[in-house]
Amino acid sequence: MKPPSTSDRRVLSLFPFLLAYLLFIGTARLVKENFRLIKDQGGNAKPLSNLTNGGSLIDGCDLFDGKWVLDGGTRPLYEEESCPYLTQQVTCGTNGRPDSLYQNWRWEPHACKLPRFDAVKLLEILRGKRLMFIGDSIQRTQWQSMVCLIQSVIPPGKKSMHRNPPMKIFRAEEFNASIEFYWAPFIVESNSDHFKKHSVLKRLVKLDSISKHSRRWEGVDIMVFESYVWWMYKPIINATIGSLDNVKEYDVTNAYELALKTWANWIESNINPHTQKIFFMSLSPTHLWSWEWKAGSNENCFNESYPIQDPSYWGTGSSRDMMGIVRDTLQDLAINVTLLNITQLSEFRKDGHTSVYTERRGKLLTSEQRSDPNSYADCIHWCLPGVPDTWNEILYAYLLHDFPLH
Ligand SMILES: *[C@@H]1O[C@H](CO)[C@@H](O)[C@H](O)[C@H]1NC(C)=O
Ligand SMILES: *[C@@H]1O[C@H](CO)[C@@H](O)[C@H](O)[C@H]1NC(C)=O
Ligand SMILES: *[C@@H]1O[C@H](CO)[C@@H](O)[C@H](O)[C@H]1NC(C)=O
Ligand SMILES: *[C@@H]1O[C@H](CO)[C@@H](O)[C@H](O)[C@H]1NC(C)=O
Ligand SMILES: *[C@@H]1O[C@H](CO)[C@@H](O)[C@H](O)[C@H]1NC(C)=O
Ligand SMILES: *[C@@H]1O[C@H](CO)[C@@H](O)[C@H](O)[C@H]1NC(C)=O
Repeated sequence: MKPPSTSDRRVLSLFPFLLAYLLFIGTARLVKENFRLIKDQGGNAKPLSNLTNGGSLIDGCDLFDGKWVLDGGTRPLYEEESCPYLTQQVTCGTNGRPDSLYQNWRWEPHACKLPRFDAVKLLEILRGKRLMFIGDSIQRTQWQSMVCLIQSVIPPGKKSMHRNPPMKIFRAEEFNASIEFYWAPFIVESNSDHFKKHSVLKRLVKLDSISKHSRRWEGVDIMVFESYVWWMYKPIINATIGSLDNVKEYDVTNAYELALKTWANWIESNINPHTQKIFFMSLSPTHLWSWEWKAGSNENCFNESYPIQDPSYWGTGSSRDMMGIVRDTLQDLAINVTLLNITQLSEFRKDGHTSVYTERRGKLLTSEQRSDPNSYADCIHWCLPGVPDTWNEILYAYLLHDFPLH
């Protein structure tokens, strides 16, 4: 561990560069369709019961407290080439990543077992419903993962993908179900809401405005929210409350809290807890500084092929203050919102990022860029198949409980 002053400086100097990757998202290149069955997960887990709303405990079992188990027999749950909806940003194998062990880990809670992921069952749950992921490019990866987990059991011609910026919509026609992504990197309104034209450098967040987005969320049956990394470019952020002419600099933590209040007010006055179900994802960790897990080194997640073993590992990039704001906001809500507390389990996965096997501005990194991982490795986003599949398996466990099938 280095002294905080050094780490602060690094946070400040590295986040901006790495965030540049976030600027050119939404360049979906759909590859040729090809159908294969999702692999069976194995194990004999029973569906979970006794999930507690508003928290992460199930019958005394914390789904987020556990360990990664190497299980190449059942993981990954789908193959990179079998899912036509993956974008070049996340297809690390196709992009030249030499190792593949990162696809073979299964998350095992200490006190219980995750239910076996069953795409058909999930489609039954989603029958006549809309599932929407709302947030930034991390959420977009989770949305892609969910689509890939499900799509192989749907025959050709019975599924479709539409772009309707700032949304992307996957439909399973026979089930009248959709799995949707909505781009809103700050959840509230901002000058970064255009799905392609946005700049992290000149962020301006409207802390008390959400209606431009939220009117498109009305009536959605299941919503999964996430917002973190866009806030973290600098410790202060330009924002407005009320008049758009009155731009002020706010501490990021204050601004985040105010934005989540705006969101919470919308939730409380618009959500029918009997028919709608809301989730909030805790922050997705980054692995930008290898000295945090390998003393004396000065690199990042590049060439990491194995998870971190230290069960208490926590990276400097994961702000406990920001996590606390999410926790407090959810606790104060009159409506149950389930926290998907995925930060700790993802902290271990320094091996799961796209690193240099990804694109920048819609183009694969050149071999020259690849040979300079300290400048070009993306240690924010995740490969698929990979870690976000586990987030969705946990989400599936909650859905199975919240929407029991007859
Ligand atoms: C739920 O939890 C209670 C108390 O822990 C237990 O008695 C009950 O059997 C559980 N229900 C199911 C379906 O497992
Ligand atoms: C939230 O969920 C808990 C546990 O299931 C339940 O006891 C409580 O009544 C719920 N609160 C609301 C406001 O629905
Ligand atoms: C299809 O689902 C939508 C909600 O997503 C619902 O409004 C509509 O009534 C459903 N249509 C049929 C034919 O069930
Ligand atoms: C806020 O905006 C002003 C005016 O554009 C700019 O000078 C300042 O650097 C911005 N502050 C931050 C934190 O971006
Ligand atoms: C990656 O790490 C392995 C050891 O784990 C090492 O042999 C190899 O040289 C490294 N590759 C690069 C490009 O640094
Ligand atoms: C989320 O998980 C972390 C680490 O496992 C834990 O410290 C924290 O208390 C959890 N947060 C909530 C709100 O449950």
